[in-house]
Amino acid sequence: MPGVHRISLEVNGVAHELQVGSTETLAELLRQRLSLTGTKIGCDGGTCGACAVLVDGVLRNSCLTLAALVDGAKITTIEGLADGEKLHPLQQSFVENGAIQCGFCTPGMVLSAVALLAESPAASESEIREAISGNICRCTGYVKIIKAIKQVAQAQEKP
Ligand code: FES
Ligand code: FES
Repeated sequence: MPGVHRISLEVNGVAHELQVGSTETLAELLRQRLSLTGTKIGCDGGTCGACAVLVDGVLRNSCLTLAALVDGAKITTIEGLADGEKLHPLQQSFVENGAIQCGFCTPGMVLSAVALLAESPAASESEIREAISGNICRCTGYVKIIKAIKQVAQAQEKP
């Protein structure tokens, strides 16, 4: 059928085979087809970072990523970070530092931080600021978010 692509992908460790439309985005696929609504759609245009996910470990705005182009990829969404009831250290730190208010930016923010600390485990404050520069938060003023990420980076710095 024209305009339909068959893809296989792994999302949070679970394999899926799906038929996707030519214009269907990864954000739509995750939210509407797989019910992974932790990934948020804010601007739907690549400027707010609410839809950020990891595609083969690389941070991507899923609203700008065509589902047909992630054939064979491994995707990590916010739902894939916790280990059962145990939150990922960054999620835990966001909670403990009060870095979440309405929560709309939080999944993308946390995934940006995950991508940063995978590259640079003991990231500096300026690296943290740079890493979340594509994530817009309308509530917190960023201070507590930066503190939350910094706390995890500093913990990783210790031998
Ligand atoms: S919803 Fe994707 S960047 Fe804003
Ligand atoms: S906590 Fe509301 S947008 Fe960031």
